[in-house]
Parts: sequence; structure tokens; C-alpha cells
Amino acid sequence: MAKVKSITAVPVEVGGVRQYGAEPYVGIFLSTSPGLVIRDYDLVKKILYKDTEYFASRIMAFDEHSEPVAFHSLFALSSERWKLARSGLTRGFTSAKLKKYVEDMLHVAKMLQSRLSEESRRESIAEDLSWAFTVDTLNKILFGVQGTAMQNPKDDLLNLTKELYRTDLWRTISKFLLFSAPQIYSLLHMKAFPPKMMDKIREATLAMVKTKGMDATNFIGLLRELRERDLCSEEERPFRFDGDQLAAQVFAFVLAGTDTLSAAMTYALYELAKNQDYQEILRNEVQNILPRGIDDINYDKLKSMKYLNMIIMETLRLHPSFPFVDRKCTKDYVLPGTDCKIEKGVIVFIPMWGLHKDPKYWERPEEFYPEHFSDIKAAATKPYLPFSEGPRTCIGMRLVLLEMGVFLTSLVSNWRWRLPQDAPEPQCDPLTYTNIPKQPTKIIFKALKKE
Ligand code: HEM
Repeated sequence: MAKVKSITAVPVEVGGVRQYGAEPYVGIFLSTSPGLVIRDYDLVKKILYKDTEYFASRIMAFDEHSEPVAFHSLFALSSERWKLARSGLTRGFTSAKLKKYVEDMLHVAKMLQSRLSEESRRESIAEDLSWAFTVDTLNKILFGVQGTAMQNPKDDLLNLTKELYRTDLWRTISKFLLFSAPQIYSLLHMKAFPPKMMDKIREATLAMVKTKGMDATNFIGLLRELRERDLCSEEERPFRFDGDQLAAQVFAFVLAGTDTLSAAMTYALYELAKNQDYQEILRNEVQNILPRGIDDINYDKLKSMKYLNMIIMETLRLHPSFPFVDRKCTKDYVLPGTDCKIEKGVIVFIPMWGLHKDPKYWERPEEFYPEHFSDIKAAATKPYLPFSEGPRTCIGMRLVLLEMGVFLTSLVSNWRWRLPQDAPEPQCDPLTYTNIPKQPTKIIFKALKKE
């Protein structure tokens, strides 16, 4: 049994756990709560895929009454409620919808080029570009609104997401207690997110869903359909798309879809700036497949770009947005092939950081090496879990791959970029539970000469 010594060490000690040699699992204590970090990939697959009935929920212990919007969000729900919510929301990610979202992203990609034309005389901050890109894309695909985050630092959704992610010691403590001592979290009536902001998300979402005649191809349109379906049904259901339960899903997507994706885009820019050869190979592929640049980008072409996809996958291997995922054991379980009994209530952690850098599986574990994914069948046998696996895998995964694709192809078609001299390696911010660089990542862009 190991003890995590400080609350800011959680991502590294739980997500990394490389200091424990070849042990298939390691017991830990987070404050007073016992947990188990699973390091053997076969056991990981059992927990995430096969024996999910024993691990039916995540840790998040939001209170249904004091934090209803957080409580009902897809990532915090469990059992039957989760199944009903997930099956409705999955309809927002069909291939037809994703094709439409790619078209929505093209407008944002053009705004990105204008912004860089203004910024290219000085250093750009990768996080500012990628955050604005994700926020404007979310605005369009969730609400059908043409966002302004790329040009306007006072954009509403930009500021709301920044506030949602602002870290300070108090918020870090409340998140730590939420994970490690949910009883204390509830007893002290702690709140992981500012109540005023949650009210704002709730009111705005419900008003939009009730406004008829708005563009139905966006996510609000889907929520409106699901609400009407549920209101017409007389069947008793533990989850209905209405009120808090409905607003919670917009909150879930805004929360899950900004810092994760912005961090991944930032790391991709950083790695391509550091490895100019890879940037050039990518540029050649993009120029062959998209001779007219941004105007040629579409869903099918993005999917056909092998090197682009290798770059994206390798970025998420070396820099997964989450250091770990968790499951709460809901029924006593014996780890297959061992005599280790996991009792009901124990938290199990799957350490993506450690698995993604395990030299047993990866040829150059600590290096950015896109060739890890040149043989996609061979890569599929390795522990690669940036979006996790199994029924609770990230619902936004396909959207993420396309959005990173639009972001990178639009940049590589028009710009060459590099790091300033003596640029430091990005370091993860220990106050967050996502893998966001602590210091701004500076990049220098130079326009490509047009022939
Ligand atoms: C690089 C970007 C992203 C990464 C690496 C990522 C990764 C993940 C991971 C690891 C999980 C936990 C899965 C588990 O516990 O097994 C998750 C869940 C989730 N993600 Fe993402 N995510 C990203 C972006 C997004 C985006 C853009 C959205 C929405 C638009 C999104 C929505 C969600 C939701 C709603 C869940 C909860 C799913 C459920 O419990 O059924 N994510 N994501």
C-alpha cells in the first residue's frame, strides 16, 4: 500500500505509478479512502469492458439536491439513468451529424487564419488559439451560434469556460475531497462549480430548448426532440430529458469538451514545432489531399489522411488529457487470476499516463514518435486509452479526432511554426486533474509563401 502524499501529487502518483516496478496492481490511500491502481492491461480490459456490472459508476459524488446540474450530467450518472441519457445523446454523434460539424468548424478555421495574420509578427500562445477554436466550435455545434472567441477576449462562452476551469487552492481541495472523501464533501456542502454559473447554464439551455423555430441541426435541436419524446411518454423513467436533467447535458459537453481538447491541440502544436521533419511530412500529405487548402477540407478527406491521424494519436498517447480514469466498485469482485478481492466501495484507477509510457509496449515511450501508429493493427493490441474503453468511453471521441484534424490541417496548409529559443518543455499543472500545461506555450508562426 502506498499513500499519495499531497493533493497536488494525485495526477502524477495515481496516473503515472511507474515507480512500483512490474506489479499488476498497486494499493493506494487518497486521504482516508483506499484505492487500487490497475497496471496490467488484461485486468484493465476486464474492468472497463467485460465486468462493467461490478464497476457501474465513477467516483463523482455530487449531491442531487445541492448540485443537481452536475449530478445529472452524463459523466456523473450511473446505472439506468446513465443508459437512458447516453442512448439519447449518442444520436448527436452519427456520421451525418459529424459531417455537418466539420462544415461548422471550417468557418472557425478561417477565423483562426485571420487571427494569425494579425499575430504573426509576435509570439502566439498556443492555448489561446486552441481554447478559442474549441469554444467557437462548441458554440456552433451546441447552440447554432457563430461564436466570437477567436477575435473577442470578452466572448461570453469563452469567459464562462475560463471561469469553469479557473483553478485555485480552494477548488483543488474541493475536487480532492470529491474524489477521496465524498462524505466530507457532502457534509461540508462543498460545491465543485460556482452555483451562479450553473444557474446561468441551466436557464440559458432551457430557454433555448423551448424557443421553437431555431436551427434543429445543432445539439439544442436534438435536446428539444428528446424532451418532446420524453414528455409524450407515459412510461415511468428514472431519467427524462427535461429541467436539470436536460441542462446537465449541455454542462457536461461544455465541461468535458474544452480543456481536454484545447490541451491536446496545444500539445500537437508544440510537438510539431519541436519536430520540424514531422511538420513537413504532414504538410506534404495535406497539400496532396487538399490542394485548395481549407476550402477542400471535409469529413472523408480528414479520415483518409494517414499521417494526420498518426500525429493525432501519438499526441494523445504522449499527452493524454486525463492522467487516469476511475471506477467505483459496486459489488465485491475478485481480480481474475489473482487472490485480490476488491470490496464494494473501493475506487479503482486506470493509469493512462503509466500505460501509455510503458516500455513493455511502446518502442520509444518517452518520445513523440508518430511511427508508433504506422501499423494500426499492431497499435490496436497495445494499451492506448486516451478516451478510455468500453461502454463509458468518451462520447465525443470522433468529434475530437475531426476537430483536431481541421485545426491542424488548416494551420499546416498556411503556416510554418516553431518554438522560440530556449522554450521549456510544457509541464502539467498539478492543481488540475487534466493534463493542461502550467505555463503558456509560446509558438512563432510564419506564413507560407503561395506559389
Ligand atoms: C482530447 C479531447 C478529449 C479527451 C482526451 C477525452 C477523454 C475522455 C475520457 C478519458 C473520458 C472518461 C471515460 C471513462 O471513464 O471510461 C471521457 C468521458 C466523456 N467525454 Fe471526453 N474527452 C475529450 C473531449 C470531449 C469532448 C469534445 C466532449 C463533448 C463534446 C466530451 C464529452 C465527454 C462526456 C460527456 C464523457 C462522459 C461519458 C459517459 O460517462 O458516458 N469529451 N472523455
